[in-house]
Amino acid sequence: MNELRIEGLSKSYGKKQALKLFQYTFTDGVYGLLGPNGAGKSTLMNILTDNLSADSGSVSFNGTDIRTLAERYREKIGFVPQQQQLYPAMTLERFLYYMAALKGLTKAETKRQIDRILPMVNLADVRQKRLGGFSGGMRQRALIAQAVLGDPAVLILDEPTAGLDPKERVRIRNLISQVAFNKIVIIATHIVTDIEMIAKEVVFLREGEICMSGNLQKLCTDALQGNMFYVWVPYENWEEISQKYPVSQVTREGDRVRLKVLSDREPGEEWKEAVPTLEDLYLYLYDREEKKE
Ligand SMILES: Nc1ncnc2c1ncn2[C@@H]1O[C@H](COP(=O)(O)OP(=O)(O)OP(=O)(O)O)[C@@H](O)[C@H]1O
Ligand SMILES: [Mg+2]
Repeated sequence: MNELRIEGLSKSYGKKQALKLFQYTFTDGVYGLLGPNGAGKSTLMNILTDNLSADSGSVSFNGTDIRTLAERYREKIGFVPQQQQLYPAMTLERFLYYMAALKGLTKAETKRQIDRILPMVNLADVRQKRLGGFSGGMRQRALIAQAVLGDPAVLILDEPTAGLDPKERVRIRNLISQVAFNKIVIIATHIVTDIEMIAKEVVFLREGEICMSGNLQKLCTDALQGNMFYVWVPYENWEEISQKYPVSQVTREGDRVRLKVLSDREPGEEWKEAVPTLEDLYLYLYDREEKKE
């Protein structure tokens, strides 16, 4: 079992404090890192992948500080950065050999791994194609392929499904759960359904601090049980209800809509209690204040 232990991690850019005393321990399994734009997700990921140094605090991997491990830590990491740069003139195969060489893999080992990984990411038939011609989804899958080269113990994915169509998102989600075995996998995302089914724990960031974390089901139950309600109403009532309550979900059927809302108490007799989801929790954490004003 791997362990990534983070203690008192802080980072500022000038006056802006992007991370404040972040503390968490990750073990094998999938984690979702959530939070609005600017919450500090990428800052944390860049520190965890040793691409950025923190102002204070420590990160240790299996008991040893990552600065002591240095190269021995970096070769255990797979990273899909948010601001990805691909070399457009390179073929996929060359790109993967290049990335594998940076990780210190031998040619023979690289070939063996590429042969195994490419069918998984569904890119086997474009192996000799240039990256410049890849679609957004293909590019993300190529980045995931390079990240899993060398079978890293820690896999860090910064918004791996941003800008992708629903079909590609599902493909990437399946791919992630497929490669997650025996690894610490941390995924930053705004799309809560990406991780809802696969994350063992979620960490919510707000302005550089953890505002909630833990097992998703338990968080949903603890924070929201008895606070989510739904009702079927005529379509034209939607507007009025959404002025009063934060609406987490709308389903339309003909001229009626099913609205799921967050409320301290039952909004009315015709309302029924609903099962809370990660999306509701997100709304509860980040949207509620705005609505109350
Ligand atoms: N290189 C930088 N220079 C100055 N400020 C920065 C820099 N990188 C990040 N910041 C600031 O630090 C804060 C956290 O940024 P970060 O990129 O970590 O957030 P994020 O959660 O990844 O956001 P997003 O969801 O938009 O990717 C933001 O206020 C951002 O403006
Ligand atoms: Mg980011």
